[in-house]
Amino acid sequence: MALGNRHLLGLEGVSAQDITVLLDTAESLVEVSRREVKKLPALRGKTVVNFFVENSTRTRTSFEIAAKRLSADAISISSAASSMAKGETFEDTARNLAAMSPDCIVVRHPASGAARFLASVVDCSIINAGDGSHEHPTQALLDLLTIRQRKKCAWKDLVVAIVGDIVHSRVARSNLFGLRTLGANVRLAGPPTLLPEQFRQFGAELYYDIGSAVEGADVIMMLRIQHERMASNFFPTLNEYARYFCLNAEKVARAKPDVIILHPGPINRGIEISSEVADGPYSVIMSQVANGVALRMALLYQLIIPGADGIRGSELIEPAVTAAPARAKVA
Ligand code: CP
Repeated sequence: MALGNRHLLGLEGVSAQDITVLLDTAESLVEVSRREVKKLPALRGKTVVNFFVENSTRTRTSFEIAAKRLSADAISISSAASSMAKGETFEDTARNLAAMSPDCIVVRHPASGAARFLASVVDCSIINAGDGSHEHPTQALLDLLTIRQRKKCAWKDLVVAIVGDIVHSRVARSNLFGLRTLGANVRLAGPPTLLPEQFRQFGAELYYDIGSAVEGADVIMMLRIQHERMASNFFPTLNEYARYFCLNAEKVARAKPDVIILHPGPINRGIEISSEVADGPYSVIMSQVANGVALRMALLYQLIIPGADGIRGSELIEPAVTAAPARAKVA
């Protein structure tokens, strides 16, 4: 839905074809980050504003790096350091940012629906970088890229277990939509208070015991407890949560021998995942972070350049050796 509209507001309704084009484009851009000159001219003259009303380390930094690696001008603002701290509304702030003619605003906000609202009041591409417990589509896309790189089988043959605070997790929702659209089998696991029955409607199997959920799984995705979105207690104590739902080596042993373990970060070590697992041989957590840059480069390019349906890093000339302004060749 959103890609055809210049925006990416969520993965719900985005086609398998659109997802695959983005993953293919991102895959070809991974090598750009390994070059000595990590820069392509594709978005020269374009402007990307990162507008973060909620804290972030990975998403904000990687969007900024992605925009800069494509030669766009990238500016980041946070609500704490903006005039929102003096009482200016989200809408007024957004309208003022839009008045400076950016080509894309990347927005993170604690309210579900904030990205869609922004798309209705400003005239540039909007990318949802996480809105409340609704969606975090670029996290899911980079997760899909990481899974696809490691698992060579068809999506329909993959079993993915997503474990933790499902109800508050925008990462779980976006991954659920993306994985189901591509045909993967999705198991959701967590305590009943964090895993409502309604998630069955999206084609997921529900588990209330982590051991059964990870049994024979190809991929395990662990989620953080989102205290900031909890108005009341959803489990007695963190210690008890960890006793039943923390992924440790003993539980990993029940998955496939070549299982991979993902976590979107930030990690709460010893709560949802043990250090030996987070830093162990099955963990691909740092690959997720690295892939975030390539995936966000691919997305920025496709949303900002009209008619683009993919670029390959190898087809672009480094600006350092380019005399005239170069334009990306579209694959
Ligand atoms: N995965 C993720 O969204 O991390 P940040 O909150 O640090 O951006």
